[in-house]
Amino acid sequence: MNSPNYRLLIFASGSGTNFIALHQSCVKGELPARICALICDRKKAGALDYAREQQIPHHVIPPSDFESESAYIRHLESVVDREAPDLILLAGYLKKIPDRIVDRYAGKIINIHPSLLPKYGGRGWYGMRVHRAVIQNGERISGSTVHYVNKVYDDGPVIARSKVEVLPEDTPETLAEKIKAMEHRLYPEVVGRLLNNQSH
Ligand code: GRF
Repeated sequence: MNSPNYRLLIFASGSGTNFIALHQSCVKGELPARICALICDRKKAGALDYAREQQIPHHVIPPSDFESESAYIRHLESVVDREAPDLILLAGYLKKIPDRIVDRYAGKIINIHPSLLPKYGGRGWYGMRVHRAVIQNGERISGSTVHYVNKVYDDGPVIARSKVEVLPEDTPETLAEKIKAMEHRLYPEVVGRLLNNQSH
């Protein structure tokens, strides 16, 4: 079968377990795609270690390394353009994607967020903060949302949501673990669906 080799550009800031799940889906041939590169805003991150180990091209682009915001944005944009991605996948990327890039790649930038948006989404809602609030508020259901990225944090059209039950004995840590395990299936699945639609 002559499946198209779509180019996925990943943005990650942290441990990179979703990036790893996406990469493994490509390697196993479950996605008709390859990871063209990783962009990381930090000099140290689990995602970067994995990219180095697997020899995946990676670009470390900390905004603070640039003289100005506009120099940073110009550089980031030129790197993204050179990678010519079919999809840009945010996987735990904590910086906001500059508006110029959102405009240029409209409909091609996807994010995964560890709550059932619009709940627990928006500026400042990330990682353990989300899971702590979910437990504190006595929610019975949480989960993860895959959505298109627009110019507002966690606000773009929802593509898919997947739920997990919050059990009375759950802690923020156990909830985070359950949600991540689910995300590692959800994200590749949704990306696969999007790519298969593109090829029709
Ligand atoms: C994930 O839970 C994702 O929903 C959120 O950030 C987390 C990233 O985790 N946007 P990892 O770096 O992929 O392990």
